[in-house]
Amino acid sequence: MTRSFTLRTALLASVLSVFLLHTAHAASQSGNGHAVSFSAEQVAHGAQIYAGACAMCHGADLEGGHDVPDLSTYFTARWANTPIDQLAGYISRAMPLMAPGTLPPQDTAALVAFLLHQNGVVSATDAPLPMEEARLAKLRFPAPSASSAAATKP
Ligand code: HEC
Repeated sequence: MTRSFTLRTALLASVLSVFLLHTAHAASQSGNGHAVSFSAEQVAHGAQIYAGACAMCHGADLEGGHDVPDLSTYFTARWANTPIDQLAGYISRAMPLMAPGTLPPQDTAALVAFLLHQNGVVSATDAPLPMEEARLAKLRFPAPSASSAAATKP
């Protein structure tokens, strides 16, 4: 009786410490080093490209449409914590759907900056979002905060 109680307590303690370690790790990851930065120029440039090449399918407010995914609430949940080179790579390989592979790297970076900005991500500094995949690979798409998720609800 006493023995199984201590065993269970030990088990519970180790489960708890793994959990605590995990959350501490997650917090230090989002809080350290490679914070995402993009410039206001990129956001403005991205908005222009978006209006001309993306909005007809993904919607003026990034709401998506019939058979077209949204680029707001569900999008941010899908891409949260993913290295940003994967998103930039996807956009440059696959979008716009009718002319994939036509976006120059600076347009792709501007579109990513625009999508981050529209989804409530605040740039850490004025530095532009890099275009090089190796540098984008070190940045992660920020997880939506509770407040921005609430703000984007219809
Ligand atoms: C002709 C319609 C169309 C246009 C124009 C278009 N898209 Fe898409 N987009 C789609 C469809 C459909 C999908 C889903 C593709 C799939 O699941 O294979 C998609 C998927 C995406 C995704 C992935 C969404 C996710 O949550 O995984 C992103 C990001 C994206 N598009 C960005 C863009 C950008 C940026 C542009 C403008 C340069 C653009 N799209 C133009 C139709 C379009």
